[in-house]
Amino acid sequence: MSSRPDILAIDQFPPAIKERLESLFTIHQYEGTEALSPYADKIRGVATGGGSGLPRPIMDALPALEVISVNGVGTDQIDLEKARQRKIGVATTLGTLTDDVADMAIALMLAVMRETVLNDRLVRAGKWPTQPLPLSRSVNKKRMGIAGFGHIGQAIAHRATAFGMELAYFNSRPRPESTVRFEPDLKALADWSDVLVLAVSGGPRSANMVDAAILDALGPDGVLINIARGSVVDEAALLSALKQKRIAGAGLDVFQNEPNINPEFFTLENTVLQAHQASATVETRTAMGNLMVDNLVAHFEGKPLLTPIL
Ligand code: 8YV
Repeated sequence: MSSRPDILAIDQFPPAIKERLESLFTIHQYEGTEALSPYADKIRGVATGGGSGLPRPIMDALPALEVISVNGVGTDQIDLEKARQRKIGVATTLGTLTDDVADMAIALMLAVMRETVLNDRLVRAGKWPTQPLPLSRSVNKKRMGIAGFGHIGQAIAHRATAFGMELAYFNSRPRPESTVRFEPDLKALADWSDVLVLAVSGGPRSANMVDAAILDALGPDGVLINIARGSVVDEAALLSALKQKRIAGAGLDVFQNEPNINPEFFTLENTVLQAHQASATVETRTAMGNLMVDNLVAHFEGKPLLTPIL
């Protein structure tokens, strides 16, 4: 790279990634659309996260934008059609976070079904000597339905097989390369499942895909795990199903309106909550951050993006 292209950083990145970005580019940290104007015309690249994406008003305020490099795999917060029209390249960190996100789905399933978090709370409260601790539920021989059978969904299936679980998946198209049973109807999948895991992409196609009818099909012994996007679930329906015990529990890494999530979740005993942490390990966030930077470098060296989606 001959120059130091101006990059708008939407998210905060780990120190080593921030340092790398700053060594290669002129970095402007996003501090609101109003603060953009002094340098908006110079911005040629955006570094952002999957959850933050690039809101349309910011994209519209950047006339010289050439490339958006996402530190994640989700592109539901980016207007891809507009990016395509403006010939703005978009890259994600496909492949870097699959295993950690799949692990989080399993961790949440075990935490909810084996009630490890509830048990921890009871032990810490000194209740072990006096209060009978509840029996939890086995995972072994249970049925797991996976909605969204891309890289992450398939990695979850691989892990669940080791737990002796029976598997089926719902997806926009069957995956004939997999031996797992395809179920084309999400409600039928929920009805069959003991554990319904959401691993679909966010965006309009999956918005509120899990509504009251799907939750009732999952039923009072069923558990919902969401490592996809909060937008996939009708949260009012989920909260009422959890409160009324129309489903047994939920393990949630993602929510609507993060990080200011609906406080009604805080009082539910039968849920385990995470702060969108599925890819948040040192190893994965380092690999993601480096690939995000490498995509920017490739673009500004006139090379093709390494992991493009546009
Ligand atoms: C990250 C994500 O938490 O990949 C995604 O789309 O939502 C997560 O892996 C996020 O991208 C971090 O910025």
